[in-house]
Amino acid sequence: LTVAVLISGTGSNLRALLEAADAPDFPARIIAVGADRQADGLEHAENFGIPSFTVPWERFPSREEWGAELGAQLRVWNPDLVVLSGLMRLLPASLVDEWAPRIINTHPAYLPEFPGAHGVRDALAAGVARTGASVIVVDNGVDSGPILAQERVPVLPDDDEHTLHERIKPVERRLLIDVVRRIATGELDLAAASQPDPQE
Ligand code: GRF
Repeated sequence: LTVAVLISGTGSNLRALLEAADAPDFPARIIAVGADRQADGLEHAENFGIPSFTVPWERFPSREEWGAELGAQLRVWNPDLVVLSGLMRLLPASLVDEWAPRIINTHPAYLPEFPGAHGVRDALAAGVARTGASVIVVDNGVDSGPILAQERVPVLPDDDEHTLHERIKPVERRLLIDVVRRIATGELDLAAASQPDPQE
């Protein structure tokens, strides 16, 4: 299975996926890394000798035009699977429709709890005792796609956004690597996972 990963930030989840995919028996290969800016995480692609590309958000007058260029870049690599791992942009519907359901996303909350760009901060603000990490199929909503994997993560009384996020990320990485592995082996069928439940 060939995989392209899209990031915006430090790419710690990307690094974990690169390390896992480096194992000879891992059934997926990362073939490209893309970012919407000069993300620090692009360094991990360089370290692993994986080609990378940037589609700078601020160079495009609209989400649609940015998405069109991102789509053109992805078509060059034509991966079997696109993984959003800390991409902090909503994709235009045209791009999601082109790639769905072969496009998945990691989110640092127990969806449908706390969707959106501040899931960790929102969980803290809500004062919950536990939050979580989720891997979903990307749809045209905000973190609203079918859930492929998720796991609870405790919130500790003295947590701040950073300490909580750092506790969530290792869980996120483990779930993401396992989901990619299961997609690669055919154990997890994205098309089936994306079908609405048959009406009882
Ligand atoms: C991850 O928790 C991701 O789910 C969220 O932002 C974080 C990105 O972290 N969208 P990194 O760039 O992988 O370190």
